Amino acid sequence: MHNNQIESEMKKISNPFLIGKYVSPDYFCDRQKETEELINAFKNGRNVTLMSNRRIGKTGLIQNTIYHLKKENSTLLIYIDLLYTNNLKEFNTAFAKAVLGKVDNKITSLIKGFVNVVKSLKPIITVDAQTGIPEIGIEHFEGGDPQLSTEEIFDYLGKQDKLILIAFDEFQQITNYPEKNVEALLRSKTQFLNNCCFIFSGSQKHVITEMFNSPKRPFFQSTQLMFLDKIDEEKYSIFIKSNFSKNKKKIEPAAVERIFEISLRFTYYVQFLCNKLYGSGSKHIKKDDVDAELEQIINDNEQLYSAIINLLSTQQLKLLIAIALEKGIAMPTSGAFIKKHSLNAASSVKTALTTLINKEILVSENNKYFVYDMFFSYFLRKKYKF
Ligand SMILES: Nc1ncnc2c1ncn2[C@@H]1O[C@H](COP(=O)(O)OP(=O)(O)O)[C@@H](O)[C@H]1O
Ligand SMILES: [Mg+2]
Repeated sequence: MHNNQIESEMKKISNPFLIGKYVSPDYFCDRQKETEELINAFKNGRNVTLMSNRRIGKTGLIQNTIYHLKKENSTLLIYIDLLYTNNLKEFNTAFAKAVLGKVDNKITSLIKGFVNVVKSLKPIITVDAQTGIPEIGIEHFEGGDPQLSTEEIFDYLGKQDKLILIAFDEFQQITNYPEKNVEALLRSKTQFLNNCCFIFSGSQKHVITEMFNSPKRPFFQSTQLMFLDKIDEEKYSIFIKSNFSKNKKKIEPAAVERIFEISLRFTYYVQFLCNKLYGSGSKHIKKDDVDAELEQIINDNEQLYSAIINLLSTQQLKLLIAIALEKGIAMPTSGAFIKKHSLNAASSVKTALTTLINKEILVSENNKYFVYDMFFSYFLRKKYKF
């Protein structure tokens, strides 16, 4: 059943460059070593903190790991995306939904076992009005203590006669919850579950590093740290070329190089460009086609970019343009940089820099600051060229 499901899904997808979804290793470039490392950590009972900038491939890597572990029936694999959760109640809902999983013929007995332990939550099966697909919903009983619900979900998992992998994606989100004790609560609950292993994945490097590396914090040195790098250039290049040639299309090496140059090999932007080029109908992709596609993408996004620009102060915008023009800069507060781009004093550049990083418009990598969205960066260079 499982294999058939994947096969039929594969038939539906005609573009091999997926964006925002994981299907199988066929559509996934490399990450062999990292997947093995995560599997090894799980099998040896080590919790892992997985870190990288956004859009490099953390979620994909977790899905790939789960895909490989799925073959072993004796394990339970639970993935929870915390990105859109804003408080402990929403955490519980996302967590409980992930624990109960898809609505299938096993769900009734699963719910029975679940509510026996998790007395403070009420699972209900709802039908999506638009798709008609049944889904599991979770309600908190009125007046209940969300902390108790969290504890109960962990207690339920601790009672399972199985090894369990629990992946909390965008884990740094819990630091934004209004409840003050969430970190300590989760640390104390995760610490004593002998059958559970955790992946804590996070995008905001400074937040996640602080959480796991500061002696003052509950999760201090409780995990193996894993920093996810960009996909190896040669492996990515082979992946791209072979996925074009599999379908009797050709992409020239210079075109692949141009894709890497524009995207700085950030996975999302590579995938996006490849997806568009593959879908363009052309059977032979050259370097110029990459630039034409980039122009098109920028035109499509112009309104969005203008909206972002309008929200910035003059000083922030000037700094942003300067960093885009330089294609990244190591020392934005240096005298030379300030002079060249007629910016204000170093202190106000520093303030603007911090704001742009917090808004996730800028990102730092290898001690250099970049515009996060590579297409936006290109747009800024084009629009504000000297
Ligand atoms: N190894 C890979 N091969 C192909 N596509 C990938 C790979 N890793 C990630 N992607 C794709 O790149 C994009 C960004 O990856 P994602 O896992 O969402 O990044 P993150 O979780 O770090 O923000 C997604 O569209 C995803 O489908
Ligand atoms: Mg992700």
